[in-house]
Amino acid sequence: MKTVITIAQLRAEVQGWRSEGERIAFVPTMGNLHAGHFRLVQEAKKAADRVVVSIFVNPTQFGEGEDFGSYPRTIEKDSSGLIEMGADLLFLPAVEEMYPGGRELVTFIEVPGVSEMLCGECRPGHFRGVATVVCKLFNMVGPDLALFGEKDFQQLAVIRKMVKELNIPIEIQGVPTVREKNGLALSSRNGYLSVNEREQASLLSRCLSDAKEAILAGKLSIEVIETAQIERLKEAGFKPEYFSVVRCSDLKRANSDDMELVILAAAQFGVPRLIDNLSFNR
Ligand code: PAJ
Repeated sequence: MKTVITIAQLRAEVQGWRSEGERIAFVPTMGNLHAGHFRLVQEAKKAADRVVVSIFVNPTQFGEGEDFGSYPRTIEKDSSGLIEMGADLLFLPAVEEMYPGGRELVTFIEVPGVSEMLCGECRPGHFRGVATVVCKLFNMVGPDLALFGEKDFQQLAVIRKMVKELNIPIEIQGVPTVREKNGLALSSRNGYLSVNEREQASLLSRCLSDAKEAILAGKLSIEVIETAQIERLKEAGFKPEYFSVVRCSDLKRANSDDMELVILAAAQFGVPRLIDNLSFNR
């Protein structure tokens, strides 16, 4: 695996493969890689001849007081993991390479309709930063295919809408969430939790599956089910931000005739803010 740090080097590498007619997949990340990220790389390898991975902790998607400065940076470990997984190219740009004019005068991508609610409401400007950096990375790499985790369900919806509405010729593939045995969704921020806390944090995924069962049983209203799970999380020491049943298509409140649903949840537990979701048909 080759590592490059400039856009020019990246383009030269990808151009070489392109001229050979190879199919190129791209996996954008912020590093501190775990089995969830590696699953994306595995799926990318199945779907393409070459796999490009980026590691860039993107300042424009972090709000004031969030963990941009302390976000875990573990490049050496990440790099050996990617070699083991068989990635072909690692793009590791500095902030100055991505934002040479500084953060202030950046042209932004806004994806209305799916960005404002849920995480968008709790983290103003977050999805604008995500859409902008992903669009920039797409323009730099120029892949045929890009892979994103369903763990970040709303992020995936934002990217899909951006690609569709801006006619970006890149296929987007969602990859199911990789979990610990106890159900806790793997996350770079789980490192902020002790072993004990990780066990307790798995309650979040149980709340999602219990809410799903309650919806399918059809006896209680969605509001009652949401409130019950929020109370349950609070009692267990979580600080829930939202626990919402919405429709998959646009993340808006589900009507009784919407069949494809997703339950999305975000809660602070100890140091980290955890998110998870569960999609299903009724
Ligand atoms: P990051 O949090 O590093 O995640 C990179 C990719 O890995 C995302 O597509 C995310 O959904 C996926 N992922 C994370 N945990 C996962 C899990 N447990 N199972 C499956 N996939 C998982 O998401 C970002 O970075 C950034 O916002 C980014 C898209 C790179 C833009 O900066």
